Amino acid sequence: MISIKQINEKDIDLCYELDSNTISLWSKKQWAHEFKKKGTKIFGLLVKNLLIGICVFQVILDEAQINYFVVNKKFRKKGFGSYLMGYLIKKCEKLNLNKLLLEVSQSNLTAQKFYSRFDFSTVGIRKNYYKDGSHALLKEKKLTTKII
Ligand SMILES: CC(C)(COP(=O)(O)OP(=O)(O)OC[C@H]1O[C@@H](n2cnc3c(N)ncnc32)[C@H](O)[C@@H]1OP(=O)(O)O)[C@@H](O)C(=O)NCCC(=O)NCCS
Repeated sequence: MISIKQINEKDIDLCYELDSNTISLWSKKQWAHEFKKKGTKIFGLLVKNLLIGICVFQVILDEAQINYFVVNKKFRKKGFGSYLMGYLIKKCEKLNLNKLLLEVSQSNLTAQKFYSRFDFSTVGIRKNYYKDGSHALLKEKKLTTKII
């Protein structure tokens, strides 16, 4: 059974654990900071109550920035990432946001292919942005908002 729920700070250990087992992006202190950041929402993807995916996004005016997106290694290439991204896009459209933005390493071809399927296009580049010297690609997806 799959579900998506908004995660709050009491589940910080689960977020840190999944991160440590995947991309090791943030320390526990950095996770705590994310939970407190203005406009930030954290969503978890659960399979039978096991947290297998996380998305952190921050709303700034009429745009949302994806600051973190990961699926547990054992559950990849089964459609779970797409399920979470589909949820996020709908959520942003309901919030009447115009754009969804993210950064991805030029060397992360798996993620780039994944984002292309959701019509993210490259709008900029940050040279030597990551610790390993790789460039960051800035990507955006225009959202379909309701005209009221
Ligand atoms: C990028 C990431 C989130 C994708 O998650 P995922 O759960 O594997 O995503 P999906 O399963 O929905 O799609 C991935 C691929 O599996 C394929 N797939 C989905 N269901 C499938 C199935 N049942 N059988 C075979 N292939 C399948 C999809 O078509 C897709 O292929 P493509 O990218 O070649 O088009 C995941 O690889 C990840 O966590 N990477 C590390 C973190 C990362 O790089 N995050 C982004 C940083 S900005």
